Amino acid sequence: MTDLTEILARELSAARQRTLHLTDHDEPELLRQHTPLLSPLVWDLAHVGQQEDLWLLRRGDARRPGLLPADVEALYDAFTHPRAVRARLPLLPPVEARAFCGEVRGRVLDRLARFGAEDDPFDVAMVVSHEQQHDETMLQALGVRSGPPLLGAGTPLPPGRPGVAGTSVLVPGGEFVLGVDAADEPFSLDNERPAHAVHVPAFRIGRVPVTNAEYAAFVADGGYADPRWWSARGWAHRVEAGLERPQFWGAEGTRTRFGVVEALPADEPVQHVTFFEAEAYAAWAGARLPTEVEWEKAAVWDPATGRRRRFPWGAAEPTPALANLGGDALRPAPVGAYPAGASAYGVEQLTGDVWEWTSSAFTPWPGFRPMLYADYSAPFFGGDYRVLRGGSWAVAPSILRPSFRNWDHPVRRQVFSGIRLAWSVDEMAA
Ligand code: AVJ
Ligand code: FE
Repeated sequence: MTDLTEILARELSAARQRTLHLTDHDEPELLRQHTPLLSPLVWDLAHVGQQEDLWLLRRGDARRPGLLPADVEALYDAFTHPRAVRARLPLLPPVEARAFCGEVRGRVLDRLARFGAEDDPFDVAMVVSHEQQHDETMLQALGVRSGPPLLGAGTPLPPGRPGVAGTSVLVPGGEFVLGVDAADEPFSLDNERPAHAVHVPAFRIGRVPVTNAEYAAFVADGGYADPRWWSARGWAHRVEAGLERPQFWGAEGTRTRFGVVEALPADEPVQHVTFFEAEAYAAWAGARLPTEVEWEKAAVWDPATGRRRRFPWGAAEPTPALANLGGDALRPAPVGAYPAGASAYGVEQLTGDVWEWTSSAFTPWPGFRPMLYADYSAPFFGGDYRVLRGGSWAVAPSILRPSFRNWDHPVRRQVFSGIRLAWSVDEMAA
């Protein structure tokens, strides 16, 4: 094997280890559907194998037979079977789903060992990203699950720093390079490309995400009872869904996290808010949400060199001293926990901790070209989605780049979603 195929084999194994860990539960547990918004875990498990079979063993040609009978394979098509109905499908039992995934993986590893000119390492990395993203989705399902904890309380995190909550930094106006090219980021997904220059007017952005304490002040101030902070659609949703506080918050200053009930940690980034709640909080705070373009500039642009950094802090790969990633913590780190992870502008915790809602709809960059998995991004462009940036504590570091774009419906909050504020700036005054 070459260095590259060896790295890819290791990445595949790391993803699979995580998938098997998250699905290492008894059969009834894996068949449970915790919410119509998410699949039973056993669906995600076999879907991961089905996609790997399709993209890597058949190069996306669905007319070629896969390892599953066609009628069984069809159960794992995300477009024909929405999440709400997946528990009622005649799914493979967990034992068979695991065996199927193992069989596909064995063939993929054989293929990697004999990787030729007709094989594209990108496709393997894309499949790694797909599996790791489903691992985060499975964590969302386990977060919604009721019952005694299955995953423990999470691994330790560094302490926060006092005095950073509520502070902001200035990003002066000017051009920067948005997005990436394959030459710099060979494993970037289609919607992150191509790199192109854009002008961004000056703005301020929160140094750290909004904390539970800050958000609790909005709740205590009657923020959920006052339509003036909410968009018309947001208010209609708040009323209809009966939203009164973030998901998993109790009325008495507690929160439930993967079955563990604990006092709400004041300096931890708020999690599990909808886009509409994020927008309302921002309005109440005299701010707004950043656009995703502002977000990316604050994260990667280095004004001293006039170039992008690979990560907010520079070129080094993420480490536990730089960002909270990988999923073992089961929660975001307190604000100020990663001073070494700051961007050139001094913005912290852009990578990891919580996905940050932006005000942007999900649209292609100019010059967009779909990848092999052509329905990964394109069917969602222009839909009822808002872009989330940064990546949560549940994202695997190997699949994340500051250019990574996530999206969800504005009413969703099972996501590990939080808030970072932004403010427009008068260029003259700046
Ligand atoms: C990019 C997280 C929105 O979960 O719908 C998984 C990722 N796409 N399988 C999603 C995805 C196909 C996608 N998100
Ligand atoms: Fe999928």
